[in-house]
Amino acid sequence: MIAGTGAGDDEALQPARQPANGNVERRVDRLLRQMTVDEKLQQVQLLSDGQITDDEAKKGVGGVFSLTDPAKIDHFQKVAVEQSRLHIPILFAYDTIHGYRTTFPVPLAEAASFDPTVAADDFRISARESAAVGIKQIYAPMVDVSHEPRWGRIVEGSGEDPYLGSVMAATKVRAAQGNDYSAADKVVTSVKHFVGYGAAEGGRDYNTTDISERRLRDLFLPPFKAALDAGSDTVMCSFNSLNGSPGCANAHTMTDILKGEWGFDGFVESDYTAVSELRACPPKNPDEGPCGHGVAADGPSAGALALNAGTDSEMVSTHIRDNGKQLLSTGQISMRRLDDAVRRILRVKFRAGLFEHPYADQTKIAENTLTAADRADARKAVGKSVVLLRNEGGVLPLDASKSVAVIGPLGDDQHDMLGPWWGQGKDEDAVSLLTGVKAQAPATTFAEGCKMVDADLYKPENECPDDSGFAAAVSAAEGADQVVVALGEVRGQGGEAEVRSKIDLPGQQLALLKAIKATGKKVTVVLFNSRPLDLTDVVANSDAIIEAWFPGIEAGNGLADVLFGTVNPGGKLPVSFPRSVGQVPIYYNHEPTGRPCDTTQKYNSRYRDIDSCDPLYEFGYGLSYTTFKFANLSLSSKTLRGRGDSVKVSVDVTNTGSRAGDEVAQLYIHDPVASLSQPVRRLRGFQRVSLDAGQTKTVTFRLDASDIGFYDDGGKFIVEPGSIDVYAGDSSKADLTDTFTVTGRSRG
Ligand code: NOJ
Repeated sequence: MIAGTGAGDDEALQPARQPANGNVERRVDRLLRQMTVDEKLQQVQLLSDGQITDDEAKKGVGGVFSLTDPAKIDHFQKVAVEQSRLHIPILFAYDTIHGYRTTFPVPLAEAASFDPTVAADDFRISARESAAVGIKQIYAPMVDVSHEPRWGRIVEGSGEDPYLGSVMAATKVRAAQGNDYSAADKVVTSVKHFVGYGAAEGGRDYNTTDISERRLRDLFLPPFKAALDAGSDTVMCSFNSLNGSPGCANAHTMTDILKGEWGFDGFVESDYTAVSELRACPPKNPDEGPCGHGVAADGPSAGALALNAGTDSEMVSTHIRDNGKQLLSTGQISMRRLDDAVRRILRVKFRAGLFEHPYADQTKIAENTLTAADRADARKAVGKSVVLLRNEGGVLPLDASKSVAVIGPLGDDQHDMLGPWWGQGKDEDAVSLLTGVKAQAPATTFAEGCKMVDADLYKPENECPDDSGFAAAVSAAEGADQVVVALGEVRGQGGEAEVRSKIDLPGQQLALLKAIKATGKKVTVVLFNSRPLDLTDVVANSDAIIEAWFPGIEAGNGLADVLFGTVNPGGKLPVSFPRSVGQVPIYYNHEPTGRPCDTTQKYNSRYRDIDSCDPLYEFGYGLSYTTFKFANLSLSSKTLRGRGDSVKVSVDVTNTGSRAGDEVAQLYIHDPVASLSQPVRRLRGFQRVSLDAGQTKTVTFRLDASDIGFYDDGGKFIVEPGSIDVYAGDSSKADLTDTFTVTGRSRG
């Protein structure tokens, strides 16, 4: 169970789906009855900021995305409401992924907080800032589970775990929508990308995925379900083909599961030209957009396939709209299905209150700017999101009264701090690491060492290309009491279509680090990056490592809080960090093999050239400036009778060090004997707790049948009798353990 497992803010996780409202349904039906076929087809069309015109608005276009100028939004809304025949307002959408104006840490960082309040703060502010300009739908949360560090979009999700991803997804939806997204400061969320997009082969964006039904349901679908249960009323279907069927042509996922099994009554929009991409290449008509998957011969067939499979709204390409009449007349699509799609779109517009309040309040637009309170929340989020990976000899926290040298290409960088999908965040509003450190330790110097330049295409000269700046960096390090080296990726190396075949530090950054380490100074590395990196050499050449991800607008201030110890880091890795890219895919919740890994023997599941089977840093790992101990694992019962029954698991967490800090208590299970081989560990609960020095808190989790069961390849959820091992502790390697027995059986 997601709610009630001690994941933190239970209230934020309560379902918020608006019950079917008779009034809304009557209004939808009344409107639908008045619509011509052309108007219906225009309603299922979603256009970009570059495509929208007065004429499209007058004809009653359904949605527009990426338009952010409030005057333009207002203008097109006025045209739609005042000049279209039925006065149906446009739904304006935007990719508000981790902040609209107040850029928060990237989603992967927010997941690393293991603290739903971080995600809630982000999406509360994001919704308010987006809605203020007239945007009423956001293309978030992105909930794609991924085991692929090469994939640049791993940064947009919550990492490799479906449970953590579910908690974050539900929290974001709840925070952005509230109980009623018609409120002036709320928006409807679109959970994406449905589904399996994060399993792209080789990590190449948009690439093929092939996922068994049970994996789909156990690993990839849960965050979507959690988001929908929390009230998300729109879904974006994905680019990738899943078991041969592209996301926006996939009747099994969209119609059978989403709309059938789950009873989803909102709408599905396609991803950008995803309907067009269903066509075979070369396309019969190249002017109609890109081609690709080869599951439709031409534009009309692509439109029919997408609509029939469950896509309700077509983004950018116009196959459904342009061919709709012909498709209706030939029976390739039915009026019933077209009406269903339109009904879903209108339903969301009514729920969004667009018919009553189509316009943003133009008198308040000027107030939609950065506030001190929002910046304070963003700064707090940085402190909660960073993960302390290493702190040899307690080199951290640093002493603000002593001198500091900030070194490295990302050390005085505002631009990259915002990360991919920066929304309307502005580089000039971001606080660089140097600025933040200097504000707390005035005796701070800076040497860049080399340059990292953010550019669309790979060019070696953009990535810390040479050592000409190393001498100045070495002398800055020699002249300071304390040394902080800022390394990693630029923001353009992550996000959509940004895939790396290597996951090490780009360019000569490792050489720079080695040169600094050779001074004999204690070296703290601060890492900015979109993905898990291979840190083997960084570990060998540093004393402390802070994984900062891309922290957003308050980067430097939040990091200085951590570096100087006013904030004690407590984040944990939401994704495994491999020892080498050759270990990918590597994830903690893998299944066992018949030849468990043993690097000292032949004929088992090992790498010949890596002396460990583990990642360098495992899922759930993260240090603190204090220490913690887990003890007294106890179960409320040694048996669970099946559905309806539950077992409470409690564990004591004690701060055994001398300063206050946060620990994330994590609960894992393993089903050692099952009809289908089960993952070695599955996260089923977590709670981030703050403890004073010496303080103990008891954390309690509840496990029920939904936590211990699993799916079979027929899509059935099975609970089997037998023992369940429980583990509690501070990472996915938690070793405090006990066992209970499930006595009931169920399937269905
Ligand atoms: C393509 C991306 O895959 C999707 O995440 C985004 O929402 C749309 N473009 C719209 O910008």
